[in-house]
Parts: sequence; structure tokens; C-alpha cells
Amino acid sequence: MFKLTAAIIGAGFMGPVHTEALRRLGVRVKGILGVDAAESRKAQIALGLDRAYSSFAEVLEDDIDVLHITTPNRLHYAMAKAALQAGKHVLCEKPLAMNSQQSSELVELAKKTGRVAGVNYNIRFYPLNLQARHKVQADDIGEIYSVVGSYVQDWLLYPTDYNWRVLADEGGSLRAVADIGTHWLDLVQAITGLQVTAVCADLKTIHPVRLRPRGEVETFSGKVREVAATDKIDIRTEDCGAILLRFDNGASGSLWVSQTTAGRKNCLRYEIAGAKSALSWNSEEPNELWLGYRDKPNERLLRDPGLLDVAVRPFANYPGGHNEGFPDTFKQCFRAFYSYIANEDMNAVPQFPTFEDGHHEIVLCEAILKSHQQGKWIKV
Ligand SMILES: NC(=O)c1ccc[n+]([C@@H]2O[C@H](COP(=O)([O-])OP(=O)(O)OC[C@H]3O[C@@H](n4cnc5c(N)ncnc54)[C@H](O)[C@@H]3O)[C@@H](O)[C@H]2O)c1
Repeated sequence: MFKLTAAIIGAGFMGPVHTEALRRLGVRVKGILGVDAAESRKAQIALGLDRAYSSFAEVLEDDIDVLHITTPNRLHYAMAKAALQAGKHVLCEKPLAMNSQQSSELVELAKKTGRVAGVNYNIRFYPLNLQARHKVQADDIGEIYSVVGSYVQDWLLYPTDYNWRVLADEGGSLRAVADIGTHWLDLVQAITGLQVTAVCADLKTIHPVRLRPRGEVETFSGKVREVAATDKIDIRTEDCGAILLRFDNGASGSLWVSQTTAGRKNCLRYEIAGAKSALSWNSEEPNELWLGYRDKPNERLLRDPGLLDVAVRPFANYPGGHNEGFPDTFKQCFRAFYSYIANEDMNAVPQFPTFEDGHHEIVLCEAILKSHQQGKWIKV
């Protein structure tokens, strides 16, 4: 569908997910770069790509249009910066950078170079989240009074669970909030069109010491991996926490994030309540949207292109009952991103999450951390 070509940096959980989604769109993925030659080669063979790059410099020299950055967080800033300077468009995994100084620099650099720059807040692209946004815009919900919810997982429940994310140097000073909380914050702001203006946070590290297996651990692999030897390691990032929120229209809200909630695999939930009706959605049952009413029976909308608004319909590619899920959100997010590049109209309003959105999330994270440290409300 697109004449554009891409390269993938990072070959863990996200690298193959990006590759598969791009292929479904007809984007040619030329090659992949892992942490070393062996990882690049292994991924190249597994994914059937033309090239296993041997260095980041080699990727930049290659004749590709878009670079997808799917490495650990600490590498995003330098890689995105170098890619923009080399004239590539960049689709970066979240979080965009390690602090707001870096992310604001990237926003400016994207403007200066005129390259298209997106951050992969893919959860926006579940069709029913787009439908929820449409309902807010159509004033079906009325003035929004409250936005509450949670994002909870169980893959870091035990002190023996380990991944680079638990280290502040690798993932950033905030972990559960930055890794999954920002997905929720980005999503509810995208749906409601509201901005968070103040936060009050109480965060908690359940395991101040974790056991680190010798060797690297790919994301989520800890649950199925035999661990032979471990080292004790001090943890400064939070496992869970609560955040009170104020929005720019006066609405109130709250978010609970946790990576230590048994049985919740990857569960994002929100409930948006307004003057006319309410909306609720759960990422573990993403093909249903709950619509709450005061004066008539509530409804459950099943994802079916025929039941979606015409503007949302293109983002649901399978008939009702043929469930769409996590991999489809990457396809739809990348479609919005590549369409924007292909249309060559930099004045058009981007339909994908931009570097500005990524920067905004990091500013929010810094306010959340400050609020937790100072024990008080912090304005964003
Ligand atoms: N949008 C989403 O739903 C979603 C989901 C998971 C992860 N993520 C984000 O994606 C990023 C990667 O997470 P992951 O879960 O795939 O991690 P991962 O550990 O599974 O994979 C990271 C990969 O990067 C490679 N790598 C490390 N240093 C490198 C370097 N210098 N050059 C090239 N490759 C290098 C690693 O070897 C590994 O292959 C993170 O920023 C994370 O926040 C987003």
C-alpha cells in the first residue's frame, strides 16, 4: 500500500510486533538491528528480512524512509535524535525519552527537520476507543464530570521477576507509571479532549530488592523461563501507585497502576462519566464498550464496523464477531502515521500520537514523581 520503507531497531518483544504490523500495511521492512550481531541475525532470519544491520550507523546510512525505535527507554532520545538528523521519519516506542528536556529537544528537532515523528501510544487505536472519542465529540456524554480507571498487570508480582524496566537507569525514575500509566493518561486525554492540569500521587515499591537472573530477560518471558543464577539488586522504581487527577474543564479523576496484581495480565480500564451518559472499557475485552444511562437500560456495544461511526469504520478491518486486538492497534496506528507521510501535507492534523504527545506524557510523569516526593498536589 505504501511505497515507504522501514527499519526496526530492537529485536525483543516490540521489534517483531512492529514488523508484522508494517507488513500487513504493505510497508517494506528492510532490516533489523538488535543489541549485537547475533541478535540482529537471529531476528532477520525469524522475520525473513533482507538485512541484519551490524550497527546503528549502518541503519542511518541505509536508504530507508522510517526508523522504528523499539529499544529500552534510555536509548530512545539519542536514537531518535540521530535518526531525525539523518533525515529519517521516526516512530518511537513510548516513553519518548528519559526526561522532558530530552523530549522537548526532540519536539523542536522534528519541527526543524520537517520529518514526521510519532510515539506509539497504540491503545488509542482500538476501534471502540475511537468510537468513545467520537461519542464525546458528538456530545453524547455531555460535560465530563469524572475520569477514573486503572492499568494493572501481574508480570512483576514476585521478587524473582526481573526486566530492564525495574532499573531507573534503563527505564527511567518512574516505572509502572511511565510504562503503563502513561498509556492510560494518553488514552483518556485523547478520548475526552481534556488535559490533566494537576496531579497528586502516592507510589509504592513493593519489592525494594529483586533477584536479577544472570543474562538479559526479554519482556514478559520471566513467567516461562527457568532461572539458574541470580544477583540481589536494589530497586528504586515503583511497582504500583495511585494518582488523583484534575482536568482542565474542572473534572476530577483517579488512576491506579500496578505491575503486581495477580491475575490481571494486561488490564487497562476506564470509566468516563458525563452529564448525559457514561462510557467504560476494558482492554482485556476490547471488543465491547459499555454505555451507561440514567433513564434507560445500559448498552453494550460490540465492535462491528456497521455499528461504528463512519469516521471510525476504517479503523475496524474485520466484521463484527471476528475479534480485533492488540496487534491490530499497531497496524492502525502505523497506518495513520504512514498515511500522513504519504499525503505530504505537513499542515494536516496528525491522526497519530506525535512527539508533542510523547513530550506531554513525560511532563506529566515528572509532575507525578514530584507530587509523590513532596506529598502534595502539583500543577502540570
Ligand atoms: N506500545 C506498547 O504496547 C509497548 C509494549 C511493550 C513495550 N513497549 C516499549 O517498547 C520498548 C521496548 O520494549 P520491549 O518490551 O520490546 O523490550 P525488550 O527488552 O523485549 O526488547 C528490547 C530490544 O532492544 C534490544 N537492544 C538493546 N540495546 C540495543 C541497542 N543499543 N541497539 C539495538 N537494539 C538494542 C534488546 O536486545 C532487545 O532485543 C520500550 O520502550 C517499551 O516501553 C511498548
